[in-house]
Amino acid sequence: MKLAHVIESQQFTVPMLSELFRLSEEMERIVARGGTRDYSNKIMASLFYANSTRTRFSFESAMSRLGGKVLVTEHAQSFSSDVSGETLEDTIRVVGNYSDVIVLRHNEVGGAARAAKVSVVPVINAGDGKGGQHPTQALLDLYTIYKEIRTIDGVRVAMVGNLAEGRTVRSLAYLLGKFERVRLYFVASPELQMRQDIIDYLTHHNVWFAIENDLSKILPAVDVVYMTRSESSIQPEEAGGTTTERSRYYIDDSMMWLFPQKAIIMHPLPRSNEIAASVDSDPRAAYFRQTKNGIYVRMALLVSVLG
Ligand code: CP
Repeated sequence: MKLAHVIESQQFTVPMLSELFRLSEEMERIVARGGTRDYSNKIMASLFYANSTRTRFSFESAMSRLGGKVLVTEHAQSFSSDVSGETLEDTIRVVGNYSDVIVLRHNEVGGAARAAKVSVVPVINAGDGKGGQHPTQALLDLYTIYKEIRTIDGVRVAMVGNLAEGRTVRSLAYLLGKFERVRLYFVASPELQMRQDIIDYLTHHNVWFAIENDLSKILPAVDVVYMTRSESSIQPEEAGGTTTERSRYYIDDSMMWLFPQKAIIMHPLPRSNEIAASVDSDPRAAYFRQTKNGIYVRMALLVSVLG
């Protein structure tokens, strides 16, 4: 599979996802063997205009496992020519002269698409703005569901938290909507509910979904609960909220009794207060296994764009 850029979840078809998962499994075997030197002549530019731990480190680790080299600018808004007023387009044109692939986290929705328009090398969207997309996170999330639940067709997923601005849940909803008999529960307060563009997409593609505001009611009926941060620029008090409000979007030991034995809890991380630390030791807590899958899927994506 050869990819020109990775910008949004909608660009992937089910056959492409199957191929990506096959490649990700191959990458797991390569990492277990200690990596490869196959991409030792390739350079990845890691250009981050916003904070990141997982995405940046896992991409850099992925490139290292492939034998490639990495150029890094974290906090590009402070330490790149952005400070001098250079446009994103000019920066991308220049960085493309020094690298074979650019991994870009930008603080504006549509930043990655703007970059791809002018780039001479593949651009990978590592998250763009609040309410944009984070396709590589969604791909590793989907891979985690595939590995842990063993199927994606028919899966029942609750997405919880700030769905309006959460780019991971937005990208994941697009991907899950491509599979058969999927059931999606959007659990959030009205202000933070999934935006109309995703609702329209799912409606147009006949994907089953329900709007909910109480996690405890739907926990017994799902295979995956996908928690996200409930902090919001729309409703800042949401993160704290009253105890009653918070318990609607919060998992602790008492909630685990409601959760099926074969179900899993996911979270793109970092978490704030959505999942109690005491839940971490439960085998159904899949969020740290999920972060490890990021290496394999991002290696597969790098191989797919580098050819
Ligand atoms: N999940 C995720 O995107 O984490 P980072 O912000 O640490 O990259």
